[in-house]
Amino acid sequence: MAIEVHPLTTHIGGHMTGIDARRPLTPAEVDAVNAGMDRYAVLVLPGQDITDEQQVEFSRNFGPLQNGANATERRPQLRLDPAFADVSNIDKSGAVLARDDRRRMASLGNRLWHSDASFRVIPARYSLLSGRIVVTDGGNTEFADMRAAYDALDDRTKAEIEDLICEHSQIFSRNQLGFTEYTPEERAMMKPVRHRLVRTHPTSGRKSLFLSAHIGGIVGWPRPEAMAFVRDLIEHATQSQFVYAHRWTQHDLVIWDNRATMHRVRRYDDLNTVRDLRRTTTKSDGPTAAQEAA
Ligand code: OGA
Ligand code: MN
Repeated sequence: MAIEVHPLTTHIGGHMTGIDARRPLTPAEVDAVNAGMDRYAVLVLPGQDITDEQQVEFSRNFGPLQNGANATERRPQLRLDPAFADVSNIDKSGAVLARDDRRRMASLGNRLWHSDASFRVIPARYSLLSGRIVVTDGGNTEFADMRAAYDALDDRTKAEIEDLICEHSQIFSRNQLGFTEYTPEERAMMKPVRHRLVRTHPTSGRKSLFLSAHIGGIVGWPRPEAMAFVRDLIEHATQSQFVYAHRWTQHDLVIWDNRATMHRVRRYDDLNTVRDLRRTTTKSDGPTAAQEAA
C-alpha cells in the first residue's frame, strides 16, 4: 500500500493513509511515520480498528513506552493495562463515571492545554490515541503547533526565554481547576520537575515552546510574574492559526509529538454519553534540564 499524507492546516496536522497499524511495520514504514511526524507534528490515521495488544505493538516502533496510569489512580480500579492512559469516561464495569468521581475530576485537567507527561523528568515523545467509541457532539481534541508559535515570537522575547527553566507538576494543572486533595504519597509522586521552556527537536532541528498546564513556575522568577507570563505565552501559542481541531471518527488513530505540540479536549456530555479513547505514550530521549538537587 502506498503511503500518502495530506496536510490538514497550514502548520500542523497530516492525514496519513497506507499504514495498517494491526500488522508489524517495515523499517521504511516506521521511517515514513517519523518523517510525517517531524513535518506535521500530528498525524491522523483513519480506519485503524486495533486491539489493545496491537496498539502496544504498534507504539513500540516509536520508542520505549511510558506508563499511562496516573498517580491518583488506584491499581485495582484500572480498566486498562497500566501501559495505557484511560482517556474514557467509564469505569471497569463500563458505567459512566459519576459527576463527583475523583477520577473524573482529575481527568478534567485534559481540558487545559498541555503536553503529555511534562510532569515527568523524561517527558513524552509520541502519544498515540485510539478512538474506540467516539462522540461528535463536542469532544474534539485540539492541537497547537509549538514550533510555529515559537517562530512567530519577536526576537526580544526569543532571547529572553532562550534559557528559562519551568517547573511542572500535575498538582499545578489540577490546582487551576480547584482539585487540591491528595494523600502525602500522591504529593510525593507529584513533586515538580524542571524543563527548558525552549527545546530543540532532535530530528527536525526546529525550536519549540515547551508549554503545558502543568507549569507552576519559572526558576528564579516570582511566581505571579511567572504565571502571568506563561499565560501570555499559552494565549499566543494557541491562536487559531496554530491549531488543528480533530473531530473524531471511530477507529481514528491520532499520533502527536508532545515535544512540538500542546493539546486539549473540548467539553462533551460525559455524564450521558460514552467516549472511550485509549492512549499509549512513548518516552522522549531524556531530561530537558538538570533537576533541583534533592
Ligand atoms: C490525552 C488527552 C484528550 C482527549 O489523551 O492525552 O489529553 O481528547 N486526551 O480526550
Ligand atoms: Mn493529554
